[in-house]
Amino acid sequence: MKRRDFIRTGCLTCIGGTAITLALQGCSSAYYAKQIGLKQNNLLVKKSEFIEVKKDGKQNMRNVIVAKYEKLGFPIALFRLGEDQYSAIYLECTHQGNEVQPHGNYLVCEGHGSEFDNKGKVTQGPAEKALRTFNVKTDEEYIYITLA
Ligand code: FES
Repeated sequence: MKRRDFIRTGCLTCIGGTAITLALQGCSSAYYAKQIGLKQNNLLVKKSEFIEVKKDGKQNMRNVIVAKYEKLGFPIALFRLGEDQYSAIYLECTHQGNEVQPHGNYLVCEGHGSEFDNKGKVTQGPAEKALRTFNVKTDEEYIYITLA
């Protein structure tokens, strides 16, 4: 292989690798809710947190957001399952306790590769137990995640 071909091939490989890395980062970057609060035994999240306003002003509904409350240890993924239907899933892996990350409509543990659906059920091991879930209620404005 000539030097010029070697350099060209190497550069294309680097660009391809960078693109794949950025794509994977894009998949795992979850939106963290900013408007959350605690009322009695409930973590409150504003429903409007699911609305994503794009640069062109158009709105899009997120299918998952993450709520972080320091005293819990791990965050909670809040999936929008349908019109006013949500699941709240504690992001501690049941395998060995690593943090699970939302990827689109499912959850992945980067510790050893376990995967879970948007209701916390195992879809791929080594984890065998479902993730902890919380009861969810709603009103006009808020989603109430019951922590007990
Ligand atoms: S800690 Fe999650 S798969 Fe092992």
